[in-house]
Amino acid sequence: MKTILILCAAIGASVSAFSLPRGHPLVQWKTAGPGDVRSPCPMLNTLANHGYLPHNGKNITEEQTLNALKSAINLNGDLAKMQFQAALTTTLDPDATTFSLDDLTRHNIVEHDASLSRQDYYFGDDHSFNQAIFDQTRSYWKGPLIDVHQAALARQARVDTSNATNPEFALSKDALPNTYGESAAYIIVFGDKISGIVKKSWVEYFFGEFTAVLEAILVRIAAFSLTNFHGTEHERLPTELGWTKSEDEITASDQNSVAQRIIDATNGSGAEKCDVSKRSDLHTGHKA
Ligand code: HEM
Ligand code: MG
Repeated sequence: MKTILILCAAIGASVSAFSLPRGHPLVQWKTAGPGDVRSPCPMLNTLANHGYLPHNGKNITEEQTLNALKSAINLNGDLAKMQFQAALTTTLDPDATTFSLDDLTRHNIVEHDASLSRQDYYFGDDHSFNQAIFDQTRSYWKGPLIDVHQAALARQARVDTSNATNPEFALSKDALPNTYGESAAYIIVFGDKISGIVKKSWVEYFFGEFTAVLEAILVRIAAFSLTNFHGTEHERLPTELGWTKSEDEITASDQNSVAQRIIDATNGSGAEKCDVSKRSDLHTGHKA
C-alpha cells in the first residue's frame, strides 16, 4: 500500500503538466478546508466539495440547492424544493431562508440514528464518515452490483445494531421512511431506477470507502493525471469510474418506488414491518 501511494505521489509530481480541462469534476473537487462546514449527508458534502454548492457549506439558498441538484445529478426541482424546506427546519430559525451544512447535524430533526455511514448521536460525532459503520453496511453488498435486496439487508442490519447497542436508539415516524429513502437515493442517483441495481464501486467511491478510492487513483495513474490529488478523501461523484448523471430527471416518484421495493424486500426478509403506502409522512421532509 505504502509503495503504491509513494508511486502515486511520484507520478503526480512528474505529470502535473498534464492538467485536465477546466470544469472537469476532478479539477473542481476539493475537500473541506479550515472554516468550511459539512453535514451528515454524503451527497450535499459531495456537491460542496465539487463546488456545485458553496465550498464553505454556509448560507445555502434555495436557488443554489435547486441548481446544484439539477446540474450535478439531474434531480427534479419539486423534489429538491422539498428537501430544501426540510433543511431549513434544522436551522432552528423559523424565518430562515438559507441553511448551512452543519445545521443538518442537529439530531432527530432530519439526522437520525442507524445511518449507513455515520455513528449514532449517542456515541458522539453523527456527521462524519465512519469507516467501521460503513464496513458493516457494505458487508451486505456481496457482489459487484447492489440490488434492492442487498440494500434492504444493509439498512436493516444498521437498524438492528443501533437498536441493540444504543440505549437511546430512536427512529421517529418521519425518520423511518427517510432511512428507506436514503437507501433508494444512492440506487437511483448512481444506478438504474428501473432495475433498482447500482454498481457497488460507484457507491463505495461516493461514500469514501478506501479500496474504491484507491481504484480511482489507479485510473488516474493510467490516465497520466494526478492533478488535484488529495489522497483517499471522501465524498465525490464517481465520474472517474465512469458514472455520468442520469439523462432522465430523477423525481420523488422514482425515489418512492425504489424505497417501496426496499421496504418490500425488508418485510420479505421477516425484518421490521413498514408499509410505505400507508405512510403519508413519506411524502414530506427529506426524501433522498
Ligand atoms: C443522509 C439531508 C439530498 C443521499 C442525509 C442526512 C441528512 C440529509 C440530514 C442524514 C440522515 C442520517 O442521519 O443518516 C439532505 C438534504 C438534501 C439531501 C437537506 C437536499 C437538499 C440528498 C440526495 C442524495 C442524498 C440528492 C442522493 C444520493 C443521502 C444518503 C444518506 C443521506 C445516501 C444516508 C447517509 C448515511 O446513512 O450514512 N441527507 N440530503 N441526499 N443523504 Fe441526503
Ligand atoms: Mg445519522
